[in-house]
Amino acid sequence: MKTKVAIVGAGPSGLLLGHLLRAEGIDCVVVERQSRDYVLGRIRAGVLETITTDLMTRLGVDARLKAEGLIEGGFNLASTNHIVRIDIAALTGKHVTVYGQTEVTRDLMDAAPDRGLPIVFEAKDVALHDVDGAAPSLTYSKDGETHRIEADFIAGCDGFHGPSRKAIPAHAVREYEREYPFGWLGILADVPPCHPELIYANTDRGFALASMRSATRSRYYIQVPLTDRVEDWSEDRLWDELAARFDPISDNGVTRGPALEMSIAPLRSYVFETMRHGRLFLAGDSAHIVPPTGAKGLNLAASDVAYLSDALIAHYARGDDRGLEQYQAKALARIWKAERFSWFLTKLMHRFPEDGAFEHRMQTAELDYVASSEAMQTAIAENYVGLPL
Ligand code: FAD
Ligand code: DHB
Repeated sequence: MKTKVAIVGAGPSGLLLGHLLRAEGIDCVVVERQSRDYVLGRIRAGVLETITTDLMTRLGVDARLKAEGLIEGGFNLASTNHIVRIDIAALTGKHVTVYGQTEVTRDLMDAAPDRGLPIVFEAKDVALHDVDGAAPSLTYSKDGETHRIEADFIAGCDGFHGPSRKAIPAHAVREYEREYPFGWLGILADVPPCHPELIYANTDRGFALASMRSATRSRYYIQVPLTDRVEDWSEDRLWDELAARFDPISDNGVTRGPALEMSIAPLRSYVFETMRHGRLFLAGDSAHIVPPTGAKGLNLAASDVAYLSDALIAHYARGDDRGLEQYQAKALARIWKAERFSWFLTKLMHRFPEDGAFEHRMQTAELDYVASSEAMQTAIAENYVGLPL
């Protein structure tokens, strides 16, 4: 099979890119290792910046987002017994929208057939070939047969563990990494949220986040040691811990209910600066990871594909390759600022095992400063709503 752009991965970055290209009549194919149900079952991000919701609107796939998304004009930073509201609407004139990554993915998958966007699910052994030559291709196996897709370009949208980044030779690689000594244990449950807006809390018992998906569905996370496994946590133990951290500071207190999902995600900062190699372009988690504090991961995937789709559209419409030449530099400028914000908020809000009393005093002083300074709140708010494209 021949196409113009072969896209590896049907997460948010691959699906958004496919739709943006199809909207301009550019042929492309998305190749995904997992089944549709598996991709839709992964509970991940929940907070969308306007750059992400604007893309959904531009694509005309925002009906459910408009009907079900929760517009948030503020969020909270808290310590053990004190809560500071960051009024993002007043400080920036913008808002964020609570709408789960699974719903974004579902909307994009549902619209794909009508928009002529083919998605091959359960494609095994995906391999990239000749990415630095004039005729790159992808191979994969499905139903016992090997398939080849020849393309002008390959877009690596296959997340942190996918094959695209690994197709770039070692001599071309520039990468930066920081791992954190804890993970986030998350729980999703059909219970009302403990507070009208999100709370990121740095408590004496460790970090916790109270989030939501709707007025009747809550999403919570707590910081856990990297050695913990989900099996170490009964639902009751996790609800006890959440109640201990949020009952003193939230409006309604924690309501308990059966878990729809529980999982642990490690925290990492990672930037793979070689986002272009020949005819291969990386976007989203394949090129960078942020710790989830700050909710930047999915939104960065959206800004990458906004730049990349503009560049590919200019290439096909006008033979103008300046966007393709500038893609890496443009994307990295925004990525590094989101990396900085996510790292800053992670350091401010978590208990690090290596920290002593002094570092803890520094966190307390910084949170006090946030509480008292509109300038500091504005800096946090403008990063949280998302820096401009
Ligand atoms: P992904 O969503 O990872 O999509 C990549 C796709 O490529 C996947 O569907 C994968 O199956 C596919 N793929 C992988 N290998 C292959 C292959 N060999 N062949 C074909 N396809 C392949 N962000 C937040 O903002 N808040 C959060 O709470 C949050 N929680 C997270 C929890 C976890 C466990 C993880 C992993 C990430 C989380 N993130 C969160 C980050 C956010 O979900 C990601 O930034 C976002 O999913 C990036 O989208 P993507 O399309 O680039 O990558
Ligand atoms: C959610 C996840 C985040 O990482 C975050 O910063 C805010 C909300 C969530 O899953 O709802």
